[in-house]
Amino acid sequence: MKIYVGTPEEIAKLAAERYVKLLNEKPDAVLGHATGSTPLGLYAELIRLNKEGRMSYAKATSFNLDEYVGLDGTHDQSYRYFMDKNLFDHIDIRKECTFVPSGLDTSDSTAAAYDKAIEAAGGIDVQLLGIGNNGHIGFNEPNTPFGSITHKVELTQSTREANARFFASIDEVPTHAVTMGIKTVMNARSIILMAIGKAKAPIIRATVCGEVTPEVPASVLQLHPDVEIYLDHDAASLL
Ligand code: PGA
Repeated sequence: MKIYVGTPEEIAKLAAERYVKLLNEKPDAVLGHATGSTPLGLYAELIRLNKEGRMSYAKATSFNLDEYVGLDGTHDQSYRYFMDKNLFDHIDIRKECTFVPSGLDTSDSTAAAYDKAIEAAGGIDVQLLGIGNNGHIGFNEPNTPFGSITHKVELTQSTREANARFFASIDEVPTHAVTMGIKTVMNARSIILMAIGKAKAPIIRATVCGEVTPEVPASVLQLHPDVEIYLDHDAASLL
């Protein structure tokens, strides 16, 4: 694992250069995107660089990690809406080449088809990840099997509480989600994990220095050959 530490602005800029390099070397790259507060600085930077002409998404394909069950793409808390608003609407990617798991059709066959679509696109070149306070990646909560592919999950109380800030009340936070599985994530050729803030410091320590265990889903990344971790000073404070 390569670890980069800086201010939130510095790590956003540094991670963004990875995308510039990748998209220039491989214009038809397949990108795995994430939602949450953490990637917002990176996305702002990617938008800026795309507008400056440093790289183009015109031939790229995107697959997002996860989606809430029950929210369609027009709901302002759906992850489709988030991605459109915070990235896709502002870059030159073809919208029809951006994929987010369906929050409405949550059948096993549709979930499995998401993995098949990733495979058919050639596999993910760079998968971006945030991390939950409980170590989840995507919505793979603690004790998700490492062999899991895209599937429906029940969200833990701690995840619903962490995400309640975006909803009018915790009762409105969906109870379930569809997420890429751990195996789906591990199949990516390279992985970028970002974390910002003191609250993430203990789980970053467990992820990087702890035992590889399904109890800390992100710890599986120790087994991946190409992982870069971008941390602000607070998130790195227990390393
Ligand atoms: P955050 O979420 O970026 O809003 O902290 C990360 C996650 O839950 O994966």
